[in-house]
Amino acid sequence: MSIIDLASERVRRETFNQPKGKPAAAPAYKSSISVFGLGYVGAVSAACLADTNHRVVGVDPDVRKTAMLANGKAMMVEPGLDDLLSKGVGAELIGVSADAEYAVFNSTVSFVCVGTPSREDGSCDIGYVEDVARSIGKAIRAKKEFHVIAFRSTIPPGTCRQILGPIIEKESGGVMGEDFGIAFHPEFLRECTAIEDFYNPPKTVVGASDERTQGIIADIYAGVDDNVLFTSIEAAEMVKYVDNTWHATKVCFANEVGRLAKACGVDSHEVMDVFVQDTKLNISPYYMKPGFAFGGSCLPKDVRGMSKLARTMKVDAPLIDSLHSSNDGQIMHAMSLVQRTKPRTVALLGVTFKKGTDDLRESPMLTLLEMMIAEGLDVRVFDENLDLDTALSHHLAHSKAGSGNAGGLAAEMPKLVAQSAVEAVNAADTVIMAHADPAFARAVEARKGEVRVVDLARVWPEAPAWPGYDGICW
Ligand SMILES: NC(=O)c1ccc[n+]([C@@H]2O[C@H](COP(=O)([O-])OP(=O)(O)OC[C@H]3O[C@@H](n4cnc5c(N)ncnc54)[C@H](O)[C@@H]3O)[C@@H](O)[C@H]2O)c1
Repeated sequence: MSIIDLASERVRRETFNQPKGKPAAAPAYKSSISVFGLGYVGAVSAACLADTNHRVVGVDPDVRKTAMLANGKAMMVEPGLDDLLSKGVGAELIGVSADAEYAVFNSTVSFVCVGTPSREDGSCDIGYVEDVARSIGKAIRAKKEFHVIAFRSTIPPGTCRQILGPIIEKESGGVMGEDFGIAFHPEFLRECTAIEDFYNPPKTVVGASDERTQGIIADIYAGVDDNVLFTSIEAAEMVKYVDNTWHATKVCFANEVGRLAKACGVDSHEVMDVFVQDTKLNISPYYMKPGFAFGGSCLPKDVRGMSKLARTMKVDAPLIDSLHSSNDGQIMHAMSLVQRTKPRTVALLGVTFKKGTDDLRESPMLTLLEMMIAEGLDVRVFDENLDLDTALSHHLAHSKAGSGNAGGLAAEMPKLVAQSAVEAVNAADTVIMAHADPAFARAVEARKGEVRVVDLARVWPEAPAWPGYDGICW
């Protein structure tokens, strides 16, 4: 099949091998999609979309890529890709063009799959995406029908709404969400299993400017993935960064474990085979919700122990070594949120290291309490599981927070304890929610708007919009 490049004609009608003048028959394909950028992501998208009976027009300034694609071949190695491309070209479902306007006029949705390489300072270079946004914007100016632009290139959160959408609005003269729709629709394929990943995606995510756009993109995946996750545009943008950083974290963690295991004469694969079988705590959503720092009798102690073991065995384990400083940073962050409220009297609701236990050992709430006392703040604490006798005789003496100044905190504690959450909240101008306890929530709700709230535990599933409410990570 020859390259379809009708740039000179500026054609406004269906053109895939359609003789001029002949009325278009009812399309035998599901929808028309233009794919901007025919690298790894774009070529696989073009092939798989055609394989699921969408008509695709691919755009790329690299004429080697468009020429090869028009002949059913990809420039990169990807199992099964050439077969799907030649099938798509043979079925006249795949064409190419160098002309963005042609591509926009011959599609209802544009997938933008151009590169977003690192700049020297590590930031993401969005220059190619901006170029495509400008070209599509210009094309939309002359197009009457609603057009959807789905950005698939990995970009930092905020890029679509703050930069790309406004570029398209400026170039097209239209309004985002009304005259055209934009979406961030992250790509999760892995090279080498990309086609399999298209048919069995880990998830399909769409963050769109409007419901119509959301629906148009979801329809493309009907029968492939009927459980599309709809998010805000920004969450869709960020989840891609988070996914890849998590994958990198897993690799580095496993490798640190591997180095240490080998130094200890233990088979790392045996260890990790057991590790991954725990789908309750290890490979699971548990411990994955942003909130306050870790503490308790085990995590801090055993992380320190593993870190020390690595040093003793002369094994480099920077990821494991960094955990305590990351955790301390979270406590410092909570303290800075408290300071920002310019408090006089603070209520700390929840002091044990987590809700439902009386264990104060290495409780990060105690560290926060010590910091506030050191700042000269007047603090009232309440925790229904706080047993002062036990706490003072055992847990505080063993706690890291208490160890530096165990006597000081132990002596202070009885004076700080309130008899109820209501009593503590009523005496305070700033409340720290350290446990997600319904009784704490009720005490604060009775004074909402009057007290400033620093929420460390996402007490309310939807973060409240009250004046003075601040969440530690939301
Ligand atoms: N490769 C992967 O496995 C993968 C997976 C998920 C997401 N991503 C993301 O997808 C994006 C694309 O990745 P890739 O690996 O396919 O990149 P790539 O470098 O292989 O391909 C990018 C293509 O965009 C083309 N291009 C540049 N400017 C253009 C323009 N103005 N109009 C049309 N085409 C243009 C280039 O010529 C090139 O062919 C990146 O943001 C990447 O981070 C990649």
